[in-house]
Amino acid sequence: MQLLVVGANGLLGSNVVRAGQQRGWNVSGTYHSTRPAFDIPLTQFDLREYDSFDNVLTEHNPDVVVNCAAMTDVDGCETNPEQANIINGDAPGGLATHCDANDVEFVHISTDYVFDGTERDPYSVSADTNPVQVYGKSKLAGEQTVTEETTDALVARLSFVWGIHRSSVDLTGFPAWVRGRLLSGEDAPLFTDQWVTPTRAGQAAETLLDLIEQEATGLFHIACSSCITPYEFGEVIADHVGSSEKLLSEGSMDDVERDATRPTYSCLDVEKVESELDRPQPTLREDVETVWDALP
Ligand SMILES: NC(=O)c1ccc[n+]([C@@H]2O[C@H](COP(=O)([O-])OP(=O)(O)OC[C@H]3O[C@@H](n4cnc5c(N)ncnc54)[C@H](OP(=O)(O)O)[C@@H]3O)[C@@H](O)[C@H]2O)c1
Repeated sequence: MQLLVVGANGLLGSNVVRAGQQRGWNVSGTYHSTRPAFDIPLTQFDLREYDSFDNVLTEHNPDVVVNCAAMTDVDGCETNPEQANIINGDAPGGLATHCDANDVEFVHISTDYVFDGTERDPYSVSADTNPVQVYGKSKLAGEQTVTEETTDALVARLSFVWGIHRSSVDLTGFPAWVRGRLLSGEDAPLFTDQWVTPTRAGQAAETLLDLIEQEATGLFHIACSSCITPYEFGEVIADHVGSSEKLLSEGSMDDVERDATRPTYSCLDVEKVESELDRPQPTLREDVETVWDALP
């Protein structure tokens, strides 16, 4: 299998590169501002130049493209909607068009922020979308442009992505921040009024490649099976750090002023991916154990 990872230096992208290498696939990638340390063929590519993606396909000749690149700064999208709409909305459709024309499979990554957060049960893949900030609106537009351009793309929505970046080998995302605070004896204020199903990047990468191997198409949710608050996530990390949970303090989303509104509840129902792969998604505790065992 010849795999091309768009956004190979992102948290998810670096994990998809590594997962592909571990399966013995021929992996190549694109990066934006920082070239990752992988010893694979790499091309600098800006999603805003999606019209020229044909050249990238000619250079790497992939069987499958996984697009892990996006404008992921939720507040940055709110203040720069034009860029967000090009990078997250238009570009995925452009990539899908070129893949379709070249008979290349296309896999695209989306987000739980396509939902408004008013539900209190995990969102299924068929639940109504209603994003409440520019980021979610631009990502939903990306899903739509991809499905308009190709009938057989695989689109995976993730939630609250965290894990080990496989080029820098650093723990990245929320647990890195909590772990740092706990290890330095600092207080960690964590929300008790937000609910998410955190996606471990390494687990998502393996799941994506399993779905590709099964030639699955359509929309999937990839996340852990635990719908938890950041405070509860912090408790699991505190257990693993061996630090006092007294350093965790209860916070509210209302305590923080941010440009973009966040949904209070964006847990994803993972039943479809579990059924497709005939195995359960991990719990949060299982994901944290996997990462802690692998930490340098
Ligand atoms: N992070 C989350 O909590 C979360 C939650 C749900 C869904 N997702 C989705 O999951 C996917 C992967 O996210 P991630 O967590 O791995 O994010 P990430 O670590 O921020 O990676 C995003 C990558 O996109 C690249 N990028 C940004 N602008 C670009 C441009 N104009 N052209 C080309 N590349 C560009 C970035 O490169 P530079 O840094 O060099 O600009 C970076 O390598 C995204 O589709 C995201 O929307 C993320």
